[in-house]
Order: sequence, then structure tokens, then C-alpha cells
Amino acid sequence: MTIARRVLILILSIRFKHLILYSGSIDVELLKYLDILIFDPYMLRLIKFCKDALIAFPLTLVLLPFEKFFGFVYYYNKLVLWIWKNKSKIEFCDFYSPFRNYNKRYNLYNQILKKYNLHGQAICYIEFGVASGASFKWWLEKNSNQDSRFFGFDTFEGLPEKWGSFGQGSMSFTIPELSDNRASFVPGLFQNTLTTFINTHLLLLNSESRKIIHMDADLYSATIFSLSQLYPFLKEGDLILYDEFNVAMHEFKAHDEFTRNFYIRAEPVAAVNNFYQVCFEVHK
Ligand SMILES: C[S@@+](CC[C@H](N)C(=O)[O-])C[C@H]1O[C@@H](n2cnc3c(N)ncnc32)[C@H](O)[C@@H]1O
Repeated sequence: MTIARRVLILILSIRFKHLILYSGSIDVELLKYLDILIFDPYMLRLIKFCKDALIAFPLTLVLLPFEKFFGFVYYYNKLVLWIWKNKSKIEFCDFYSPFRNYNKRYNLYNQILKKYNLHGQAICYIEFGVASGASFKWWLEKNSNQDSRFFGFDTFEGLPEKWGSFGQGSMSFTIPELSDNRASFVPGLFQNTLTTFINTHLLLLNSESRKIIHMDADLYSATIFSLSQLYPFLKEGDLILYDEFNVAMHEFKAHDEFTRNFYIRAEPVAAVNNFYQVCFEVHK
């Protein structure tokens, strides 16, 4: 077989394999055949040769100006496919609603509160991204168990990096003053404060209290860091809430990478505003 023909078959087979995988009708025999083609020793040598040559003669750099666009399209498509795969499984879901209403997030919280009977239950609520404390206060007021604990993490100096049209330093608020002694705040960058917090709260983090981890820091960096640090303490029935889940390059990307790379099974249980706010239940 000529090299050109092999390359053509390789390209077609990879494309084709993708289409089959996405359509959901996987023909096992066909996939096996495609794998034989892709992993043919000559083909592998050719692939390695091309990859090394592209490092020595970096032609791919002509695509550099479009790298953000390609990255965005990749994650946006992932998000769209994820939504279409999961939308019908979710009991409480408003997809599709033409207009977003930020207050709908409180409907989602109420739904979760009812579903898991969280009013009187001892919970460990950890919020990443407190700002003025709107969502933090909501949860604090709705739960009446004196054994519950509420922790709010934030720089309280605003975003540490740009997020969309919000520049570094925006969303800066003073630490909320609360009279409820179940609540406390941890000021500073999560990347600087979370490890110490974990080491000083091991007993609570390992306790039976259901953890509600509320990710509302907007940023990919903050979300992936916090989730990966709390990974060892996640247990069956814990809840993870996202406030900006359908932002492809931030919370969605962090969730996707976290669940895939840490082998976490998290089932979506409620979603509003076309998956802007989503709640997941952890299964271990
Ligand atoms: C959208 S606001 C939080 C809104 C709040 N939960 C509410 O309901 O109103 C996002 C917050 O995340 C904080 N934040 C983002 N990344 C952070 C990080 N790496 N460390 C600490 N705080 C961070 C910002 O300071 C900002 O106040």
C-alpha cells in the first residue's frame, strides 16, 4: 500500500471513528478494524515520524493565532454533547429556556434542600467564591442544625485573574459580618489557604456530615484546584453545586477534567438556566 493511501485511510478512519462514537451506535467489528488500521506498525512508524518532524519543523505554529478558538470550540462541543446526553435524566431541569433568570438558582437550591432533606440535617457546607455572601447566607439561613458548619473561601479582594469581561480584582467585597457562629470565612487565594484548612479540619472532613461543595469562583484555575484538593474527602451522597457550569472554558472544563481524571461518578440532579447552575450528587 502506498504511503499516501495509508495516510488517507488513517485520516478517514480517525474521522469516521469519531463520528461513530458520537452517534452512539458503535459497531464493535468496525472499531476493531479501524484500530487495526491505526495501529498497523507501518502506520505507527509514520505517525511517530510525522510527530517528530512537526517538532523539528513546527508547521503547526501557523495555527497559533486560532488556538483559543480551537480550544473553545472543543470544549463548547463537549458541553453541548454533555447537555444533550444528560438533559432527560435530570428530574429538575428547565432546559431549554430562552432567557436566563439568575434568581432561578434559588429554585434549584430549594429543590436540593427538599430532595435531600437538608433543612435539619448536619451538613458541612464549603463555598468557594463568597463575594458579598448572597448564596452563602441563603444556605446558612435555610439549615437549622446546630452541628452544621459553613466555610466560605474568597480572596475578598476580587478575582485573581480576568474572567470574560470581568477584570482581575473585580467582585471585591469586604468579609460579610454574620452573627451565626456555625459560619466562618477563610480569606486569601484558595491556592494558599485550602491546604492548611484541610490539615486543620480533617476530623470534620472525614465525618459523616454530608458535604455540600459550592463552586462559585467562576474560574477554571480556582475550580480545578479546589475540587482536586477535596477529592480524598468526597463520599457517597455529597453534593457539588456549580454556579457557572455552562461556561465551557471554566467550570465545565474543570468539572470534566476532574471527574474524568479522578474517576469520579457525579450524577446531575438539578439544573437551571440552561445548565448555568447545576447540582451533582457524588457516587463512589
Ligand atoms: C461570582 S463571585 C461569588 C458570588 C457569590 N457566591 C454570590 O452568591 O454572590 C466569585 C468570587 O470568587 C472569588 N475567587 C475566584 N477565584 C479565587 C481564588 N483562586 N481564590 C480565592 N477567591 C477566588 C472572587 O474573589 C469572587 O469574589
